Amino acid sequence: MQTTEDPSIASIIGNSPQILDLKQAVLKIAPRNTTVLLTGETGTGKELFAQALHQGSLRRFKPFVRVNCAAIPENLLESELFGYAEGTFTGGKKGGYLGKFAIADGGTVFLDELAELPLTLQAKLLRFLQEHEIQRLGESIPRRVNVRVVAATNANLAQLVKYKKFRSDLYYRLNVVTLEIPPLRNRREDIPLLCQSFLKPLNAEYDYRVYRLSEGVKHLFDSYPWPGNVRELHNALEAAFYLFDGGQEIQMEHLPQFLRQWHGEQVQADRQLDQDVQTVIPAVDEAEPISALNKTGTDSKGSRPEFAELLQWQHYASMIGTHPLAEIMNEMEAEILRYLLAHEPNRSHLAEILGISRQALYKKMHKYFV
Ligand SMILES: Nc1ncnc2c1ncn2[C@@H]1O[C@H](COP(=O)(O)OP(=O)(O)OP(=O)(O)O)[C@@H](O)[C@H]1O
Ligand SMILES: [Mg+2]
Repeated sequence: MQTTEDPSIASIIGNSPQILDLKQAVLKIAPRNTTVLLTGETGTGKELFAQALHQGSLRRFKPFVRVNCAAIPENLLESELFGYAEGTFTGGKKGGYLGKFAIADGGTVFLDELAELPLTLQAKLLRFLQEHEIQRLGESIPRRVNVRVVAATNANLAQLVKYKKFRSDLYYRLNVVTLEIPPLRNRREDIPLLCQSFLKPLNAEYDYRVYRLSEGVKHLFDSYPWPGNVRELHNALEAAFYLFDGGQEIQMEHLPQFLRQWHGEQVQADRQLDQDVQTVIPAVDEAEPISALNKTGTDSKGSRPEFAELLQWQHYASMIGTHPLAEIMNEMEAEILRYLLAHEPNRSHLAEILGISRQALYKKMHKYFV
């Protein structure tokens, strides 16, 4: 099936399995008329996906109208959405107002920050989704409009339904096709690609030609939790261009203060954790570092007998049937780590040997030993 070739989804950058799945879903869903709910933390790309859904259908020749439910005062929201007839309000427009749904006729209405929609309007939205008709304020005859609704929220709607802040009938009506956009920290493999695509226009704007990030910056980007997701990543790079003063790569010193500070605290915390672990698992002095091992798992002398005897197979075998698999695996993992931590003082090497990130290694050290 087509993916990146399709222009409607070309602006969605990412090669992680989650993003590839979402792109496939967009291609499938876009041409249909189904209402779509987009969920995800702030800055994950909900609006980008809403536009892709619009661009991927014939509706792209008609308007894409965004309504930010959080930005319009409650008393104005109904007329903003559904319009009003002339003379309904003192000071109203001559000829009345069509309302966003009628303006978008044939196209898409993007209801952003859906959780902020007041309960009375939730009822009206539900009616619209069922009848495809709107009724302007001050008019008694409903009008048919052909609009596809795409809604987005970063709130947990199911939770809001529980607290009676969101209508359950509307929730079930909307929750038929939901695209959940995962936070950036759960798809870190997208970060290099996103950086590349952001660097191009930033270079053009600031008249630089820097396409590389220093190892330190890469490492930081790969461990920072990105609460503001893709938007925050873009902002961090843009901020780096303010401080950039020429050179081959973007360095740590070009990054915004809060990121550098976070990095400093992280380094400090890792150092502390490392010290704590070393008191539990002292380094074996005379041991040859594991990094001296060649790819076959033997050392320069050709073998490492204690390595093969490291795992007490009898012990694990006796756990089978009485302990869940996860518990057995955890014990094994801790055992392997205990050995390697004692023999390899260089934690970056150790992470590499294990095929995990340094950050993942520190997480495991924390989990098992402190
Ligand atoms: N996968 C992506 N590829 C390229 N750009 C992206 C991607 N995801 C997000 N962006 C960019 O990040 C910024 C934030 O995206 P968007 O406005 O769609 O997020 P959002 O989920 O609607 O956030 P909010 O909940 O705060 O409204 C935009 O500039 C958008 O173009
Ligand atoms: Mg948005």
